[in-house]
Amino acid sequence: MTVSRREILSAGAASAAATAASAGSRAPRFLWGAASAGHQVEGNNVSSDAWLLEHVQPTVFKEPSGDACDSLHRWREDIGIVRSLGLNAYRFSIEWARIEPEPGQWSLAMLDVYRDMVDRCREAGITPVVTFSHFTSPRWFAARGGWEQPDAPARFAEFCDRAARRLADGIGYAVTFNEPDLQPLGKWALTPPGPKALAALAAMTAAADRACGSDRFSLFTTGPWDVVGPNVLEGHRRARAAIKAARADLPVGLSLALPDDQAVGPGSRIGEKRREVYEPFFELARDDDFIGVQTYNRSRIDAHGTLPPPTGARFTQVGDEYYPEALGGAVRYAHAATGRPVLVTENGVATEDDALRADFIPRAVRSLQAAVADGVPVVGYIHWSLLDNFEWFSGYGPKFGLVAVDRQTFRRTPKPSAHVLGRIARANAVV
Ligand code: BGC
Repeated sequence: MTVSRREILSAGAASAAATAASAGSRAPRFLWGAASAGHQVEGNNVSSDAWLLEHVQPTVFKEPSGDACDSLHRWREDIGIVRSLGLNAYRFSIEWARIEPEPGQWSLAMLDVYRDMVDRCREAGITPVVTFSHFTSPRWFAARGGWEQPDAPARFAEFCDRAARRLADGIGYAVTFNEPDLQPLGKWALTPPGPKALAALAAMTAAADRACGSDRFSLFTTGPWDVVGPNVLEGHRRARAAIKAARADLPVGLSLALPDDQAVGPGSRIGEKRREVYEPFFELARDDDFIGVQTYNRSRIDAHGTLPPPTGARFTQVGDEYYPEALGGAVRYAHAATGRPVLVTENGVATEDDALRADFIPRAVRSLQAAVADGVPVVGYIHWSLLDNFEWFSGYGPKFGLVAVDRQTFRRTPKPSAHVLGRIARANAVV
């Protein structure tokens, strides 16, 4: 039984890697990793839109990111932890705001830092999975209207071009956008953002306008979807072209927020949701090398819309239903809809109780193994997150990390769940 499970995962990984990475030589093994994102761990990302929004009044951020985990100075230690746990992949993002802090002002020194990170990963036998846009943009970009501007795709592609020319030969997988489907997905939430939340967001944006003398500050993909949606899709196309121009065989894709949607009862609106939320991105992904899947929970949908979690459900620290098996359903669907190999770029649970995370990981991975056994090509599993970090509007409250971070000393302490994932990685399966 044990042996066959191992074989299942390795076989799936091998065939998927062959397809995903005609790149192949760079990513032949099943990837077991942990993820981070620049703004959430680096600290003092002062030229970014998020930093400004954290400091205006009023703001919806519970607290500013500040030093975050100080990973800008401690990334060697972070990569060392990934390695010591027995993982072979590290997903991190590069901050456009650091690389182009003012329009046309390119920081070669900052590109060198990211280059060093990529190289260090390689020396440590770790495949770097690099995200080019993980929510944040430079403050100047947001002040000009962000993804609402007609030239946003071109500006983003220029950044991708600069970054890819410096980094691409060392990267294992490139992710253009992190969860660009959040806005349409939000409309299907059990409680979509109400007038109060939208008013708070608008007041914060108005404060950002005042702070930078703008009248069109626009955060990530929060602007009108009929404008922002097409620009983001075009941004992906152009970013992919820029990255491929730097290295044609580097696998490129995007990562979607993808709950496990489950139809309940007759006449479920699941098809409508899927067409509305994911299909525009899947259409793009069909020309990509892989589809990035980020799953935290399930969503049950009947003829009227999204249902509340069933009676007796357990909840995570951020109010999601605790349902580790969601991962299997999500990857099956992502592959069926795109025909592409799947890279799980995020999966995790917010909890102060690490025993829950230690329970979550093997259950999620088992659901993944079952999908692989049924023929879904999966190239890797990357857990969110390596570190307890800055959880956006919620500040440092929610704990997603495999590793605790002391907020005064930045000392990192791996939690027992980190070793659970490490053991799975070493065995290449849940055994
Ligand atoms: C995002 C991360 C975030 C995590 C947990 C994902 O939506 O990519 O930046 O911290 O989920 O909420």
